Amino acid sequence: MKFNMINWEEYYKVHTDDEIEPNRLLKKVIDKPNNIKSAIDLGSGAGTDTISLLEKGINVYSIDKEASSSRIINQRLKNLNKENLKTNLMCITDNFETINLPKVDLINCYNSLSYCNPSHFYKFIDNIKSSINKGGTFAANFFGVEDSWYGKENMTFLTKQNVLDLFHDFNIIEINETKKKGVTSLKKEKFWHFIDIIATKY
Ligand SMILES: C[S@@+](CC[C@H](N)C(=O)[O-])C[C@H]1O[C@@H](n2cnc3c(N)ncnc32)[C@H](O)[C@@H]1O
Repeated sequence: MKFNMINWEEYYKVHTDDEIEPNRLLKKVIDKPNNIKSAIDLGSGAGTDTISLLEKGINVYSIDKEASSSRIINQRLKNLNKENLKTNLMCITDNFETINLPKVDLINCYNSLSYCNPSHFYKFIDNIKSSINKGGTFAANFFGVEDSWYGKENMTFLTKQNVLDLFHDFNIIEINETKKKGVTSLKKEKFWHFIDIIATKY
């Protein structure tokens, strides 16, 4: 299936509310007592998760291939009167396919990793795993093979078993699979199949 270039600007517009609520996986990780001092938000987009992490006093590397991600995050911090949080933030404009990741206590990837080209995906997962400090956490969701976008070029789709295999050397805290009819952020109907995972490094 031919991949239509995604217009992320449209997506960001519907994800820039004033209310900062982390994604469901990140919420579980940061709302309980933890020792997380540093995190990477991979594919940070409009930056809701990045800002949630900053609000918890965590140093954040916010990484996205779109330069507008950094611009929007900085603008949102300004609008929220939280520019003081910028001292703990480093925005990096780069691709999953080429970036070298710093070592951190947490890597958060929400609705983002599946947009990595399959030819780089598995190497990037290794890169991610080695960038997490011992005892650190990985929280992500992946598109599944029954998703209606399955087959789009430049995207990677997995089964639940594929995800378990990728993180066989991590402690799986939770893994959940969802299959449901729904709509996209831009209100287009689609069938969703995704796999959520939270895992920690031994
Ligand atoms: C669906 S958005 C999710 C944004 C944010 N995580 C959220 O939950 O709102 C996916 C993000 O991943 C970024 N992205 C997609 N492919 C990428 C790649 N190969 N390298 C870096 N960023 C990428 C996009 O620019 C976009 O901001």
